[in-house]
Amino acid sequence: MFSVETRKLSENLGAEIVNIDLADGVSDDAFDAVYAAFLQHQVLVFRSTREVEPRHQVEFAKKFGEVQIHVMNQYHASGYPELYTLTNLDESGNPSGKHPDKGTLAWHTDGSWMKRTGLATFMYAVEVPTQGGETHFADMHGAWDRLDDATRTELTSLKAIHNLDFSRNRRHGEEPMTDEQRAAVPPVAHPIMRTHPETSRVSVFLGDHAESIQGMPYEDGRAYIDDLNRRIIHEDLIYRHRWSDRELVVWDNRSVLHMATPYDTANARRVIRRCTVLGDSPR
Ligand code: SIN
Repeated sequence: MFSVETRKLSENLGAEIVNIDLADGVSDDAFDAVYAAFLQHQVLVFRSTREVEPRHQVEFAKKFGEVQIHVMNQYHASGYPELYTLTNLDESGNPSGKHPDKGTLAWHTDGSWMKRTGLATFMYAVEVPTQGGETHFADMHGAWDRLDDATRTELTSLKAIHNLDFSRNRRHGEEPMTDEQRAAVPPVAHPIMRTHPETSRVSVFLGDHAESIQGMPYEDGRAYIDDLNRRIIHEDLIYRHRWSDRELVVWDNRSVLHMATPYDTANARRVIRRCTVLGDSPR
């Protein structure tokens, strides 16, 4: 039986898988061990000596489940609608000075605006800057454990309404969703206290796509979400990933929030390919 060799990346979450090169593909036997490590560490890093081609990335993601075709189709990679490209390069391949999606700069979890939310995201670094452009991950099991009893009791019955149109307008409003895109993903309510369907561990499920609280006046809900989103981020429960070219990072959207850090979009180059596997509807 295959066993994965791991190197822990922080106290609470994150591990590098050292004995798999994704460019070689992943056997079924190895995949079982990778999936167990994914559930244990929540964030996995793979380093590759050769390029992980788009088809390898999609094939690997498909082992986890159904790959999402993202509603924001202007980001689809050519020939691979499953892949979402985040790049600051213009059509001539030069830094444009424009961030591709400023929504990624706030703590969020992928696909919380869908009924079936993201299970795992697979992000591959084609080119990365030497400064900035990191991705940070915050442990939401740990965040739940640190809440006081009164808040935990309150959260057992609260649902947040997640809405991509809201977060897009708020963070990247200069390029809003089209009417068609908006109609395809109406707001959806999810419990804030989430039980992981595979490990049964409890986490806080919130982040930047949460717009309001079901049954609460809008402005009160906004204040509640902003306050809770601040309280669930603990400096010592974050893994900060500094990218190198040809790395692939996979994370569990059911139990971590993530965000990108800024970089010099006018001079540096950052090209990322991302895809997300769909999970369950939070309970
Ligand atoms: C994302 O939020 O999905 C992308 C994060 C990043 O660009 O580092």
